[in-house]
Amino acid sequence: YRRLRVALLGAGAVGSQVAALLRKHGDELADRAGAALDLVGIAVRDLDAPRDTDLPRELLTTDPEPLIVGADIVIELMGGIEPARTHILAAINSGADVVTANKALLATHGPEIFEAADQVGASVYYEAAAAGAIPIIRPLRDSLAGDRVQRIMGIVNGTTNYILDRMDREGSEFSDVLADAQALGYAEADPTADVEGYDAAQKAAILASLAFHTAVPLDGVHREGITSVDKQMMDAARHAGYVIKLLAVCERLTGADGESISVRVYPALIPREHPLASVHGANNAVFVQAEAAGDLMFYGAGAGGVQTASAVLGDIVSAARRHIAGGVGVGESTRANLPVVPIGRVTTRY
Ligand code: HSE
Repeated sequence: YRRLRVALLGAGAVGSQVAALLRKHGDELADRAGAALDLVGIAVRDLDAPRDTDLPRELLTTDPEPLIVGADIVIELMGGIEPARTHILAAINSGADVVTANKALLATHGPEIFEAADQVGASVYYEAAAAGAIPIIRPLRDSLAGDRVQRIMGIVNGTTNYILDRMDREGSEFSDVLADAQALGYAEADPTADVEGYDAAQKAAILASLAFHTAVPLDGVHREGITSVDKQMMDAARHAGYVIKLLAVCERLTGADGESISVRVYPALIPREHPLASVHGANNAVFVQAEAAGDLMFYGAGAGGVQTASAVLGDIVSAARRHIAGGVGVGESTRANLPVVPIGRVTTRY
């Protein structure tokens, strides 16, 4: 086999699992990728921080630059905008393909990163950036590329689904279950990102950009979180035959002036018989309505270190295959530039 040098940036909940799985299944992954994947180093902030898996001390470094320069594939799992953005651009410009789960970065700087990759024929893979383990990026970008997506309704944040589900099933108050959600490790470092809908809005911007072949900016996404949902609202919804879920709705609108896109995140009433109503715990689901395909639903673990690592590993195999084939970039299909209409809460019922 040809040997590929793989650099990992970040060893948190997802990164530490990626490193462990790469080492555990290295031979099998080499067979699938057609190349040996040599993990040459792991850049971390603190060499002595506790980790979820045992990582060889000699692979750890606090200096990412030398790792990036020599790598064929750079896996960015640090999160946040900087220094992740700088490292990804450096990786692209030094000839590496990039795998990232960084939803905040892609939702705000996606066009800059894809443009940089296009310039040099590099690829950026990000299956883990939305809905954790659920394959949704490739289906939207590739499998449905010949169809016309009309609407996406997604439960794309595990923490808020866990909270709302417990409020619905146990009659608990919001404040009682937030701490449990944090203890389970699904929440972002600052849970405001989850409960105020910022995390879901980032994922919605990414999904809408792919589904509608345009570049949806994060500030075009209408956002409401779940902090105003209380026991009384939950009870009223239940009695009326509904459940309240935080939904990301991405829609193609057709008006007199042509087509536009609406992307919004808000607590919505869902009829109990709708498939999205039976998404429990920290699971996610993405319901896609396409012109020819009809209704599709993608369901599974939307958060969690090892689950999200599955999506990252798949991207690494894809990157390795492409890298050894010397192929051209897969392109990001952001050509149409449909206008984004931030129209807010149009309807709360689906
Ligand atoms: N905090 C996120 C969630 C993690 O709860 O869904 C996965 O992106």
